[in-house]
Amino acid sequence: MRRKLAAGNWKMNGTGAALAEVQALARAHPSPNCDILICPPAPLLHRAAQTVAGTAIAIGAQDCHAEPSGAHTGDTSAEMIMDAGAQHVILGHSERRADHHETSEMVRAKARAAMQAGLSAIVCLGETLAQREAANTLDIIGGQLSESVPDLATGENLVIAYEPVWAIGTGRVPSPEQIGEVHGFLRARLEARFGAGVGRSVRLLYGGSVKGDNAAEIFAVPNVDGALVGGASLTAADFSPIVAALDDSA
Ligand code: 13P
Repeated sequence: MRRKLAAGNWKMNGTGAALAEVQALARAHPSPNCDILICPPAPLLHRAAQTVAGTAIAIGAQDCHAEPSGAHTGDTSAEMIMDAGAQHVILGHSERRADHHETSEMVRAKARAAMQAGLSAIVCLGETLAQREAANTLDIIGGQLSESVPDLATGENLVIAYEPVWAIGTGRVPSPEQIGEVHGFLRARLEARFGAGVGRSVRLLYGGSVKGDNAAEIFAVPNVDGALVGGASLTAADFSPIVAALDDSA
């Protein structure tokens, strides 16, 4: 069965001092039943990878370029992320789709590059509040899924994160029924495109205002294989209860 995944997205937060939080998290979860992932800002990737060596925690990046190298000032290739000691990369987060005008086609090219370099791609999807209120959620999610995920996806190199834009950093969380509807839809779409074997092995994370006090309810929803956590992943004190809730549900 799918191994659960608790992933923390630090966004543009954290300097070297924050690595103490990663050490504390590793001490709190020496042999978890789930995978634990921290995605710090790019300058911290290498030190974070050294910090988690020998622990149950893996490291991921928050973006990569679609090209392996070249004249792209300020960008980071998938190979560089691997070389820094990371194994995952978040792609197509709604903040990058908004701030950097990333389209699903661009996300797909980045995901292809990540997979070819040996990284697993955590591809983010999510509707805005206006799209949900117009009853367009499944249309939007279905379009983002088919356009953002490359054909070479497998259960090992692809993770999908459903992150409703209106739930990110707002304290608003969809109901378990709303999460279950989207995750069930994602599972069916993946099975239809990639076959039951691959479709059933891709992990589906929920993200958006996950906290210690709502995690267990979210993890009980069918087809929720873990969480992509922003604010509550920045300290061990906040993230550890979420990891523990996932561990309990595994
Ligand atoms: P919050 O957990 O802060 O709502 O952020 C969610 C998110 O965007 C994770 O990628």
